[in-house]
Amino acid sequence: MEVINTNSGGLSASEFSKSDVAADAPNAIEVDHIVKRYGDFTAVDQVSFTVKEGEIFGLLGPNGAGKSTLIRMMTTLIPISGGAARVAGHDVARNPNEVRRAIGVIPQALTSDLDLTVEENLNIYAKLYDVPARERKESIAELLETVDLTKWRGAQTKTLSGGMRRRLEIARGLVHSPKIFFLDEPTTGLDPVSRVAVWEMLTNIKSKRKLTVLITTHYMDEADRLCNRIAIVDHGKLVALDTPEALKASVPGSNVIEAQFEHPPADWEERLRKLPGVTSVQNESAGMFRVLTANGSGTTTNLVEMAMVAGVPLKTLMVQNTTLDDVFVHYTGRQLRDELVKAYSFVMPQRPGLQP
Ligand SMILES: Nc1ncnc2c1ncn2[C@@H]1O[C@H](COP(=O)(O)OP(=O)(O)OP(=O)(O)O)[C@@H](O)[C@H]1O
Ligand SMILES: [Mg+2]
Repeated sequence: MEVINTNSGGLSASEFSKSDVAADAPNAIEVDHIVKRYGDFTAVDQVSFTVKEGEIFGLLGPNGAGKSTLIRMMTTLIPISGGAARVAGHDVARNPNEVRRAIGVIPQALTSDLDLTVEENLNIYAKLYDVPARERKESIAELLETVDLTKWRGAQTKTLSGGMRRRLEIARGLVHSPKIFFLDEPTTGLDPVSRVAVWEMLTNIKSKRKLTVLITTHYMDEADRLCNRIAIVDHGKLVALDTPEALKASVPGSNVIEAQFEHPPADWEERLRKLPGVTSVQNESAGMFRVLTANGSGTTTNLVEMAMVAGVPLKTLMVQNTTLDDVFVHYTGRQLRDELVKAYSFVMPQRPGLQP
């Protein structure tokens, strides 16, 4: 039997230490019952939240949840259909120019000019934003250093890898020293190493500049490591908002045991559910069970004993803390990862209106 503890795997949260945000910090972003309709379809439905100055705030949700639409409204790229949003103290509908001056935006699609060099791309943006010549030079040199592209400054953008282009775009979004930085899925499509490099850049930039960051993602680990608070959006609605820690604590059961058995009997799920501390059991695939429990070590012992007594071979066993994946399933009844969308009956009694 193979026992895996995934909590020690990968990078620890402390390597991306989040700076604390003062409780009395003023609001950088205020979104109040904002709505976006496309004809009869409501893409964003009465969403409200505030983001404090200096905070890294994550919008987490699956494809089509409304993340980009929310960002486009907050950054004045599309008009809002209802409600209101204030960014850097300015109303997005009434004072869009003031909002634009205060923000930097990295859209979901890569938009740097492929035929220009890295430095030319940055220069054009700095000129567009009227950054004075001397400041421009200094700021670009500093940003190139921060995103680790100094030695590529003269390279044509089309020769860069996807991760490097993302870093160039992050630098480009900061050339005019904005106060609030919006990033729409900055790591989607990147390999794991490039993703971590982008996280490092963002953490680095945050430590150097006074910046509020709003980031969208559908990667749970990214939101968990980077964000002070996370808003989970699904079908245009806000379904949960809190710190990653509080969100995880809000799910019944604080540990997850993933256990794979060989030929378990038909009533195995039922028997697992009856073990002390267990709050839910999902039969993920043949023989594979995901058990949420309030007592990871106790339930693990009981589960192993039960399997031995029943003569059911245990093939793999993995124990970990509740993840944001469990939070998402808890609040929406679905898994975040598109390819694994399936019904989890255990959330249905709590949210009877939701369909998988
Ligand atoms: N211009 C538009 N006209 C009609 N419907 C739109 C338009 N833009 C977005 N939508 C719809 O609004 C919903 C939200 O889209 P949005 O792009 O905000 O999702 P998202 O959360 O950013 O998803 P993804 O993770 O795929 O980027 C989707 O159902 C989308 O099809
Ligand atoms: Mg999007």
